[in-house]
Amino acid sequence: MTTIASTCILIFLYLFTIAFATGDRYQRFPSLKAIKPSTDEITQRNAVKDLIATLLHERAQELDIKINNSIPKLSPDAFELDSDDKQILITGSSGVAAAFGVHHYLKYYCKVHLSWTGDRLKLPQTLPKLSQKIHVEINQKFRYYFNACTFSYSMVWWDWQRWKKEIDWMALNGINMPLALTGQEGIWTKVYKKLGLTFADLDNFFTGPAFLAWNRMGNIQRWAGPLPHDWINKQITLQVKILDRMRKYGMLPILPAFNGNIPNALTKIYPKAKIVKSSPWFGFSKRYGETALLDPRDKLFIVISKLFIEEEIKAYGTDHLYSLDLFNEIDPQSKELEYLTAVSKSAYLALNSADTKAVWIMQGWMFYNDNYYWENKRIQAFLSPIPKGRIVILDLFAEVEPQYHRSNSFFGHPFIWCMLNNFGGNAGMYGTFETITEGAISAYDMKNSTMIGTGMAPEGIGNNYIMYDLMAEMGWRKIAVDVRDWVVVYTERRYGGLDENIIKAWLRLSETVYNCNDMRQYHCRALPAVRPSLKIANDVWYSADDIFFAWEHMLRANNEFISEETFQYDIVDVTRQALQELAFIMYKKVTQCYHDNNQETLKTAGGELIELFTDMDTLLGTNSHFLLGRWVADALQHSNNISIKQQLRFNALNQITLWGPSKSILHDYANKMWNGLVDKFYKKRWLMFIKALSDSISNNILFDQQKFNLAVQKFEAAWASENNTYATTSSGSSVTVSKQLFSKYKKNIEKYRQLQT
Ligand SMILES: *[C@@H]1O[C@H](CO)[C@@H](O)[C@H](O)[C@H]1NC(C)=O
Ligand SMILES: *[C@@H]1O[C@H](CO)[C@@H](O)[C@H](O)[C@H]1NC(C)=O
Ligand SMILES: *[C@@H]1O[C@H](CO)[C@@H](O)[C@H](O)[C@H]1NC(C)=O
Ligand SMILES: *[C@@H]1O[C@H](CO)[C@@H](O)[C@H](O)[C@H]1NC(C)=O
Repeated sequence: MTTIASTCILIFLYLFTIAFATGDRYQRFPSLKAIKPSTDEITQRNAVKDLIATLLHERAQELDIKINNSIPKLSPDAFELDSDDKQILITGSSGVAAAFGVHHYLKYYCKVHLSWTGDRLKLPQTLPKLSQKIHVEINQKFRYYFNACTFSYSMVWWDWQRWKKEIDWMALNGINMPLALTGQEGIWTKVYKKLGLTFADLDNFFTGPAFLAWNRMGNIQRWAGPLPHDWINKQITLQVKILDRMRKYGMLPILPAFNGNIPNALTKIYPKAKIVKSSPWFGFSKRYGETALLDPRDKLFIVISKLFIEEEIKAYGTDHLYSLDLFNEIDPQSKELEYLTAVSKSAYLALNSADTKAVWIMQGWMFYNDNYYWENKRIQAFLSPIPKGRIVILDLFAEVEPQYHRSNSFFGHPFIWCMLNNFGGNAGMYGTFETITEGAISAYDMKNSTMIGTGMAPEGIGNNYIMYDLMAEMGWRKIAVDVRDWVVVYTERRYGGLDENIIKAWLRLSETVYNCNDMRQYHCRALPAVRPSLKIANDVWYSADDIFFAWEHMLRANNEFISEETFQYDIVDVTRQALQELAFIMYKKVTQCYHDNNQETLKTAGGELIELFTDMDTLLGTNSHFLLGRWVADALQHSNNISIKQQLRFNALNQITLWGPSKSILHDYANKMWNGLVDKFYKKRWLMFIKALSDSISNNILFDQQKFNLAVQKFEAAWASENNTYATTSSGSSVTVSKQLFSKYKKNIEKYRQLQT
């Protein structure tokens, strides 16, 4: 009796605390409380029914979907699962909440798995019933998705079908606040034409499609442009479809706003306007036209802001959420607090002059990236003129460097705790299990916390799915998961059953490579993708043996799992990571031979390294997710005009290699481990390197890195204009190739292990 009584009291206290915390939090921010889906419950229900029909075909009839925002709940959103004789009943407070509920049921009752890298969608013969109704409170009003960069690194070539799939995935993962930056160049064109600019002026302003993210942020102009006019128009049509589907689920898309970034030509028409020439972003602006930033305190800022938002609302409607970054990797022109206060006040008023309900959504990246400038007093000065609830800060890299803490919850302004996880869309395995499952909860529980949402803000998607699977669940989880238990269940869903060896592999990965707690992934590039030099360090937070162990155990998996699409992807991914580690070991040998001045051993060691790249390319070619050919084909489909196709190909290839003109500092930032790229680009650079080392031994001179860099830059710059063809379909069996490679490199692994002990 006493136990039951005290449990009841505990539950009561718990609910009371949540009610108090949540209610209190939104009372403080009425402007956020007022943000509501623009579609009705019938529309949202139809969207979810359409989603389950797409996923489950005729078996969708076994689910009944209801949307009811009046179900009793303490948080802004909740879902309920129940069953009767005939059906599974899923009720959500919105379309997104219902889809989140569908996913929860499919994941945890049917062991279904849906991911960017393979689905496992075999439903049980009869759908499992629920012994009693379950009610799940979604913790926060907002679940945010995307980063300004994702639009270029991942989505740039997407057609509507691919977008539709992603929006469905978002709904299934509870995301209701997606960034929606597509199709803005069409709106800018209208605005600037009104202000007197010509198409030629804009051709000098917009970058090519693959670089628009940085053009929009005011970092670069013109590179890889001009933007095809046909592209501009088609993206408007695409954005209309994107927003329509998002809103049908009850999502609240965030639209772009004016941040001061203007075409240089505008300075001819407004010679008195206060223009700041931005400081060169990674050396870009010196050679490619300096970007011009209009000071928010100038009257023209309000004019452009208002024109843009009015045109945007005409074309796309609005949910009153606007993305606006004034200083993303841009130095503010003054250190004065008064300046910061005046600037943010003007930008806020400009936003409101067009939409009185506007809420400003800001990436908090600058507070981390330039924390020397952004001392607390400057953060406070910047945020102070904006009414509480009218600006939301995305604490973008909160899993590693949260900023809410040092700024005392952004001085009372609401914020969203985001996992960033990925830079440049790089493929390397990386994750921060502990901080993800604990961080979002402790941020919410902190005294006086103003956290109002969770989010995912990767620069590129399509990799490390396990981290996103967990992060999405942080939308409803109240206590941190036991990572080991969670991972075991993850493998069961991902492959369709429990397998001792697979579990061993994933537990090892989750405790090592997926349990980083710093940002080394940012600095640590995969060896094949690094521009060759004698000084490459492998600054990893795990040991190569963790990867070899996982590889070996994945290959021992039971036959019934290896045919799964998800397994096929993962075996390529694990093998790829293992080959990267082996490449580093071989690289050390190559440099040693050079230092020993030994031509003979250099030849052998160099040959071994090059052969490994060939093997890696073959392996990657066995899975369609790892094909350069797909990236290029996706780019080329956007035009029938030969010269524009050539430009699209250049955009696609330059972004992932040189990332800019020949002396680009950003080279290899967005590297990929793809078939075609490894063989025709990375391997070529390493061949040049080994030859250069060999020549310097022959000629008895020191290897000259600068001279080598110039030669490599020349190759890199020309490469993006070459017309190589790349495979667009996979060939060979991933498991067979992986097994062959394991036998081939087993002796290298054993040797490595011996040296460790
Ligand atoms: C929505 O839920 C409330 C509270 O449970 C209930 O009273 C109402 O009838 C429901 N509405 C519909 C349309 O089912
Ligand atoms: C929380 O807010 C209250 C009221 O504004 C204040 O007195 C208190 O110092 C704050 N606590 C912390 C830990 O910031
Ligand atoms: C292809 O595009 C280029 C650049 O926009 C243009 O000059 C050319 O006329 C186009 N060719 C055809 C056949 O439309
Ligand atoms: C690739 O093809 C285009 C169009 O046919 C041509 O203009 C260009 O010169 C070719 N590039 C190379 C490096 O051969």
